Amino acid sequence: MESKYLPIGFMDSGIGGLSVLREAVLEMPCENYIFYGDNGNAPYGEKSEDEIFALTLKCGEHLMNEGIKMLVIACNTMTTIAVHALRDRYNIPVISIEPAIKPALTAPESRKVIVMATPATISQNRYLSLKNRVGHSERLIDIPCSGLAGLIEKGNFTSDEIAEYVENKLVPFRNEDISGLVIGCTHYSFITPLIKKISARVFGHEIGIYDGLYGTVKQINRVLQERSLLNDSREHGTIRLMSSGDDRSLDLMKKILDSKSISD
Ligand code: DGL
Repeated sequence: MESKYLPIGFMDSGIGGLSVLREAVLEMPCENYIFYGDNGNAPYGEKSEDEIFALTLKCGEHLMNEGIKMLVIACNTMTTIAVHALRDRYNIPVISIEPAIKPALTAPESRKVIVMATPATISQNRYLSLKNRVGHSERLIDIPCSGLAGLIEKGNFTSDEIAEYVENKLVPFRNEDISGLVIGCTHYSFITPLIKKISARVFGHEIGIYDGLYGTVKQINRVLQERSLLNDSREHGTIRLMSSGDDRSLDLMKKILDSKSISD
């Protein structure tokens, strides 16, 4: 089969990457997609670097065995630890996501910016060098959100437990001059409406929300075009879901894909 008709492989530690996949389907509906969620091992964010590295390579292998034309790392934590290794290993394009601190720090009237991400993402050198590259890092407030992806993985994106968690993380900064918040983990994209609501209450005004998923989807589209890999069929493509978790994980993944928007 010609490469352009092969599926695009997406992976994440669990359901988080579906937020990126859903946006990709909206932008490129004629592509075929395979999503691999490592729900059986999620969350990754509190695991050791070695463990995350090994699990990420395994996920990559699962997708490569399916025959894909592009690999999308729809997980900030996987990116930070293993993107280089995956790029070295495979000769197809490997696209990744990382926290959208640049648009947040360079937006007009940008002041202090909160970054919510997993402890693994925030502690890694890759994130530190991103901060050095972008500059203005004295205006960043990093909040490692240990356990939050695990709560989201349960599938109720408006639970009191999650609302309380987010509020407790933001309240210590209520007297800071905050202009924006970066969603630095693809799981958190599902609770963006809740984060918006709680941050408006805590800071007394609305703040800008910055999510790297939109830039990642644009990048997927750009690279497919540059390499003549866009699927030129006029029909809607297919989505195949794979998971290392149980049937409940797969049911939840289907439900998320069937819902109309991230806030559903
Ligand atoms: N969705 C992931 C991310 O973007 C990781 C969440 C986790 O497994 O802790 O960082």
